[in-house]
Amino acid sequence: MKAVILVGGQGSRLRPITFDVPKAMVPLRNRPFMGYMVDFLKRGGLSGAVLSLGYLPDPIQSYFDAQDLDGFSMDYAVEDRPLGTAGGIKNTEAYLDGEASVVVNGDVLSGIDLGQAVAAHQATDALATITLTSVEDPTAYGLVEVDHDMLVHRFLEKPAADEVTTNLVNAGVYVLEPEVLGMIPAGREVSIEREIFPELQAAGRLRAHVSSSYWRDIGTPRSYLAASHDVLSGAVGAGEGFEYLQVDGSVRREKGVKILPPVSVAVGCVLGRSATVGGRSALGQDCVVGEGAVVEGSILFDGACIEPGAVVRGSIIGPHARVGENAIVRGLSVLGAGCVVGEGNVLDQGVRINPGVVLPPRSMSF
Ligand code: GTP
Repeated sequence: MKAVILVGGQGSRLRPITFDVPKAMVPLRNRPFMGYMVDFLKRGGLSGAVLSLGYLPDPIQSYFDAQDLDGFSMDYAVEDRPLGTAGGIKNTEAYLDGEASVVVNGDVLSGIDLGQAVAAHQATDALATITLTSVEDPTAYGLVEVDHDMLVHRFLEKPAADEVTTNLVNAGVYVLEPEVLGMIPAGREVSIEREIFPELQAAGRLRAHVSSSYWRDIGTPRSYLAASHDVLSGAVGAGEGFEYLQVDGSVRREKGVKILPPVSVAVGCVLGRSATVGGRSALGQDCVVGEGAVVEGSILFDGACIEPGAVVRGSIIGPHARVGENAIVRGLSVLGAGCVVGEGNVLDQGVRINPGVVLPPRSMSF
């Protein structure tokens, strides 16, 4: 059985990072997210996948072209305009040989047992089986109500707190019979969640399978950072030889540098005198952390530069972005590619700075 991986969306909730890097390729512990996805599908016993691409397809395709997938097949279906989640599945039809398939949202990091999900599906006459997972705060998700037989009987999209009737949400992992692809109109944008699943539910042919395994989507800065923390601390995605302290041999550490695991520091980074780096941080290739600067609980993309005395906490710093001397970036702030936070600025409370923007220095008052 093959998988369809939906990776064609714009990832607007993860902007400004996704202006330059597709969500599927954002790093977790310095490995593109798609690497974990393929491990997950292989573990589930699938023989290959078709990538349903649309927005920024080239970096994803180039990544896979350079990988040895050890017998796992990879095909590519690229849409020339957004077809939506169902349209994106329809667009892969030619590669599925008329067989049932597993469909995964390309932004889900999970330990779901796909073998169990497929077996649960095959034990019924359902045309589709949705995997459900429970979350603490379901209000940001699509809720799915099921009856005692696991037949889906209602969907609730992002309900208000007083409308919440279940904490089971759509985990973005489905098993679909080929007939479902026949229900998807071709040539226009179609949503599987809003159009196809309700139709299947009304026909009594949509079932659910509940998983209690690890699950997190990486679609927002908060959940991406949380997923990164989980991978760094080995809660998920830890391969053989996992270590809390992953510092490439090429990294230059000046005197007095403090490295606090779990941490991942990639090739070519330079850590200046008395800098502090760690507490579930990942630094991509060729990052520079200046003298006395602090990076904690954060993700730095390749080429990011944190100047002397600056502090970055619980934030995401895009490729080649620069945080000026003594500036503070914290509280889930997100900097786009190549932007500059001038000396002495304080960014807090989820501020997002678009790619290339330059914030002038702020004079410091003592
Ligand atoms: P947001 O814009 O932040 O909502 O993110 P998104 O574009 O990824 O949308 P969403 O999280 O709803 O999408 C779920 C999955 O479907 C993601 O893995 C997307 O890449 C994928 N997806 C969304 N829209 C399309 C589309 O039009 N075509 C294809 N091929 N995939 C899509």
